[in-house]
Amino acid sequence: MNTVFESIIDGIVAEGYGVADNFLTQEEVTALASRLHDRRGAGQFRAAGIGNQQKMVQNTIRGDEILWLDEASATPEEAAFLQRIAEFVQYVNQTCYLGLRDYEFHYAVYPPGTFYKRHLDQFRSDSRRKLSVICYLNADWQESDGGQLAIYLPEADHQTERQIMVTPVGGRMVCFESGRLEHEVLPATRERLSVTGWLKTG
Ligand code: OGA
Ligand code: MN
Repeated sequence: MNTVFESIIDGIVAEGYGVADNFLTQEEVTALASRLHDRRGAGQFRAAGIGNQQKMVQNTIRGDEILWLDEASATPEEAAFLQRIAEFVQYVNQTCYLGLRDYEFHYAVYPPGTFYKRHLDQFRSDSRRKLSVICYLNADWQESDGGQLAIYLPEADHQTERQIMVTPVGGRMVCFESGRLEHEVLPATRERLSVTGWLKTG
């Protein structure tokens, strides 16, 4: 796992983002996707909101449904996921001195045709979110299914930007600087599943 962590960190240091396959095994992806479906079937998901309090639901901006993970009611596979994140946080703190103290994660489901318009993950009123992390839970995702994460990278001249595309294949993890990199989720033809969260300072 340390080589996976290392490749993500190398990417963040060089370009502000890192992508790694096999952050989760296919077994972990399948198990988390089933827990997600169990919980969604039990009516535990809500339309995601925008802004710090997540009070405004506006599906012209984002159309996903989410459920926050909670250590206290985590299933064994959810607890194992949060443990992997805790190890990653420890690794980041040992190599990058970001002073991460906390993390928060939610499941996300994007029904077909929904999207999340270009945005930044840090709130103007709260800069504790340092790194955004997305782990995809999609089996057999094809390029033609859509749903890419587009990340906008400012060029050194600060005038132009470059766009990179991440396909949301199961087991893949993407991590980027929450306060710096704008990004968007493109619509997909299939339901798009992930666990998404933030590594925060105190
Ligand atoms: C988010 C987000 C990206 C993705 O939830 O803030 O940008 O690929 N998600 O799901
Ligand atoms: Mn985002």
